[in-house]
Amino acid sequence: MKRTIRSLAFPAFGMLLFLSSTVQVEPPKPSAFPLPPSAFADTVVIEYKGRIKEIIDLKCYDCHSAKGDDEDAKKELLWDELPKLNPTDQVYALDAIAESVENGDMPPFSYVLWRPHKKLTAEEAKLLIDWASKLSDRIYKEMD
Ligand code: HEC
Repeated sequence: MKRTIRSLAFPAFGMLLFLSSTVQVEPPKPSAFPLPPSAFADTVVIEYKGRIKEIIDLKCYDCHSAKGDDEDAKKELLWDELPKLNPTDQVYALDAIAESVENGDMPPFSYVLWRPHKKLTAEEAKLLIDWASKLSDRIYKEMD
């Protein structure tokens, strides 16, 4: 009797081992390697590219950069410094950017009055708002 129990127990144990090995998480597929650099970074990198860069360069950069001569504008926002700020300040700045464009506060009315080509078109405003708010959301999510 002892012998039969043991001979049954072994296959049952083997079956258990087999089952437990099949429910294991699959190893990552080889095609997932090499991982892109962003997979290793713990913060989102702020970059200005394509249309966003064009819009910022033409419509915001005169004042919010080292070449600007309005100290208030530079104190509020410097595009070249934004990528170096800590995530909390980046979220704050990006939200302020989206909001200022949304409200039509930026570029300032007095500035575009005599420079119509510096005004944001509706399409540009939408692009800039979408970009800033999505980026802000991504950085915020990575903070916790
Ligand atoms: C003619 C110069 C000028 C241009 C061009 C300009 N700004 Fe400003 N900006 C200012 C000044 C001056 C201030 C600070 C005073 C104020 O808030 O009105 C400011 C403030 C800001 C602030 C902070 C406001 C807040 O409520 O926290 C943001 C954000 C901003 N600008 C975004 C932008 C964006 C985005 C653009 C381009 C679409 C832009 N600015 C173009 C002059 C400028």
